[in-house]
Amino acid sequence: MFYDPLSQDHGLRHTPLKALVIPRPIGWISTVNTQGQANLAPYSFFNLVCDAPAMVQFSSSGEKDSLRNCEATGEFVANLVSTRQTQAMNASSALLPPEVNEFDYAGLSPARSQSVAAPRVAGAPASLECKVHDIIELPSSQAGRRNAMVLGLVTGIYIDDAYIKDGMVDQEAMLLLARCGYRDYAQVDKVFELSRPGEA
Ligand SMILES: Cc1cc2nc3c(=O)[nH]c(=O)nc-3n(C[C@H](O)[C@H](O)[C@H](O)COP(=O)(O)O)c2cc1C
Repeated sequence: MFYDPLSQDHGLRHTPLKALVIPRPIGWISTVNTQGQANLAPYSFFNLVCDAPAMVQFSSSGEKDSLRNCEATGEFVANLVSTRQTQAMNASSALLPPEVNEFDYAGLSPARSQSVAAPRVAGAPASLECKVHDIIELPSSQAGRRNAMVLGLVTGIYIDDAYIKDGMVDQEAMLLLARCGYRDYAQVDKVFELSRPGEA
């Protein structure tokens, strides 16, 4: 089959796009507003986009609090999510008034970051503290909804020592949660090693 994503003429029960680019890592984005109130929400339009310097992006489908806070303060933290935090992650995606703190709502504790004012999520396996490098406007949706990509320069990396083993990150032990299509998720619990051509 083939379809034009603008027409959405795919003939399937649900739009298939987000079931194709899988699994998507989840950036659990913590920010503060100009009054210093914390905000937290998951974003699966999220990834590492450069390693030297370390840079990540998350994209907002619509003008949401995380985007507004990044515009106002120039900072955010991208926390990685373990499947042990699945319910809290999901709770933090609820549509709540800006004054409601998602940390409290989801039963989570904020922990002090070292290089930004936004707190990281205590208990997350790793957290990437970021300064906003750029906010790139993406084409609006057909309904006129604003879409924007927030590019962040990583200024500090927290890793829970529990996941360091023999000088490496124990990737399977983190049990990272990833987003798939529809209402589906995946758990990263099995990795395998492959050397690149010419590598010892
Ligand atoms: C697993 C998951 C991934 C999500 N990914 C995105 C995303 O990439 N972009 C987006 O705009 N919303 C995404 N959402 C929805 C937001 O989390 C939700 O709209 C949230 O209320 C936004 O909060 P905020 O206004 O505090 O930023 C996702 C939700 C879930 C549960």
